[in-house]
Amino acid sequence: ALLAPASRPLAGRHVLVTAGPTHEPIDPVRYIANRSSGRQGYAIAEALARLGARTTLVTGPVGLPTPLGVRRIDVETADEMAAAVAAALPADAAVMVAAVADWRVAPAMHKIKKGSGAPTLSLIENPDILAAVSHAVPRPRLVVGFAAETEHVIEHAKAKLLRKGCDWIVANDVSQGVMGGPANQVHLVTRDGVETWPRDAKERVAAGLAERIADALGAES
Ligand code: CTP
Ligand code: CA
Repeated sequence: ALLAPASRPLAGRHVLVTAGPTHEPIDPVRYIANRSSGRQGYAIAEALARLGARTTLVTGPVGLPTPLGVRRIDVETADEMAAAVAAALPADAAVMVAAVADWRVAPAMHKIKKGSGAPTLSLIENPDILAAVSHAVPRPRLVVGFAAETEHVIEHAKAKLLRKGCDWIVANDVSQGVMGGPANQVHLVTRDGVETWPRDAKERVAAGLAERIADALGAES
């Protein structure tokens, strides 16, 4: 069905979303990764597309179908995600939902075999994609990060906002059993303050965030 322009407030805007985990190979058969179902990020990409945005979804490995109307770019590692994000810019807004692995391993060429003692992994810090987007030229007008925390949720989110140079942080308390599940309970942390949203289905949290992004982009130019 054709939608009236008023229901597509993001028409003509390009929005970039990251979602899912990254996988950092240890050897050809093993990897390290963060826990992430990708559900919240995919729901956000779908909600943005529904509001008319040209939506690019850079996704780590998850078994989810591509959201309707979204251009999807599959990556595996944080380095690949960083490169795909840089290539997808410029954007009017960026929403970095991915659970990027903080470290990678200098991977072994061949499968590590048992029997000669447990291997020691030396870890190398991965690029911070959110911080890079926050300092990109030209910079998206709105840069949104996520923060999954298990304690001091708001304080950690405020510190992350300042450290990374983004505009908003969507913070959630993952000690509340939301990871991988259908619902989420988030706090929207901006430079102006904190809004605590009710626990709701990830699709409804996504719809609420997409509306807020449309409002923020609509307020200027
Ligand atoms: N992020 C990113 N690139 C990274 C690490 C994180 O883009 N290498 C993004 C995430 O997508 C998220 C935000 O930064 O939007 C916060 O991620 P988080 O892991 O909470 O922050 P860190 O700075 O890695 O801090 P820590 O894991 O120590 O809490
Ligand atoms: Ca991290």
